[in-house]
Amino acid sequence: MVTVDLIAAARPNFMKVAPLYHALTQESWCRVRLVHTGQHYDKNMSDDFFKDFSLPKPDVHLGVGSGTHAEQTAGVMIAYERTCMESRPDWTVVVGDVNSTLACSLVCAKLGIRVAHLEAGLRSRDRTMPEEINRIVTDSLADVLWTPSVDGNENLIAEGIPKERIEFVGNIMIDSFEMLRDKIVADDTQNALGLDPGGYGVITLHRPSNVDDHEKLETIIGALCKVADDLPIIFPLHPRTRVRLAESSLDARVEAHAGITLIEPLSYIPFMNLVLGAKVIITDSGGIQEETTYLGIPCLTLRENTERPITVSQGSNHLLGPADLEDGVRTLVIPQAQRPPRYWDGKTANRVVESLRRKVDIRLEP
Ligand code: UD1
Repeated sequence: MVTVDLIAAARPNFMKVAPLYHALTQESWCRVRLVHTGQHYDKNMSDDFFKDFSLPKPDVHLGVGSGTHAEQTAGVMIAYERTCMESRPDWTVVVGDVNSTLACSLVCAKLGIRVAHLEAGLRSRDRTMPEEINRIVTDSLADVLWTPSVDGNENLIAEGIPKERIEFVGNIMIDSFEMLRDKIVADDTQNALGLDPGGYGVITLHRPSNVDDHEKLETIIGALCKVADDLPIIFPLHPRTRVRLAESSLDARVEAHAGITLIEPLSYIPFMNLVLGAKVIITDSGGIQEETTYLGIPCLTLRENTERPITVSQGSNHLLGPADLEDGVRTLVIPQAQRPPRYWDGKTANRVVESLRRKVDIRLEP
């Protein structure tokens, strides 16, 4: 029996871990240990996602919590190393690009535990993004790199990663959506907020580059208020953004705008219900660029670059700055229905399980 640690840490991880957890636990050759690092800990940033995805209580909870990058990364490393020394997994699967992804990869590389990275190869080429550092280092350490799109393979090969380690498996987040599609469609969130399908926008904002800089945040909020003069906007507030709005005394301005509805962060099912009915999504998230590409919903991304260029070339995503936001919403083009990128088909977890099983075979029979 092969022990596989599956690392869950922060909100954007849970939808990547869930389909894989459910697929791996069907297999007789492996035992899955679900490890939560505790990077996100609020009920609506963590527990509610476990509930939506029918994930059990984690087998191990490292309880690390927030802190500076060094504190958080080091905290996860110390706690996860202890866990591995007490009970060593054969494989560790890390997902995405958060600090815990990097921390657990480093621990495993030093302990000689094999690491597989799901969602490998994405690059924004912007090293001011903490996630870009996490992606580069994690990919340089991983024994197996599962990519969501072919640009991921190209990036890894250009960085000198041996071809045999790289496998194009597709986008696991589409598995999550398809897994819960019926519940998302049946969910009542649009109704409860009194929204007309196609008659509102949704904004999510949390990147340090947008919210930690007071001037930038003020410009974004100014642009958002103009958009909201004509289109009702739902704004689920990430904890980081809530704090920054208050520090910059912008919270009152947002609250006073009749067109903007501030709400607490939503878990997956209610959030995707909002996305499904939206006229436009305004975001700086990575995952939402992909979900809107799959669903053919216009997405305006408030960033200068993206590690997911396929969402621009094959999807409905546009990168823009706050100065262009109002125009961007006014001149929205409803994307033509088109085929999603290859392997964005809800079957990525199966391909990952197959790939891992093959690697395990190779290891057991050298
Ligand atoms: C992290 C990830 C980012 C991801 C985002 C999604 C890194 C470097 N960043 O950023 O890639 O897109 O999660 O949310 O790993 N907080 C709470 N409750 C929580 C979690 C956080 O109140 O459950 C507050 C804390 O004050 C914390 C702040 O939010 O200091 C930021 O949290 P943190 O995990 O450091 O980074 P995120 O901005 O969430």
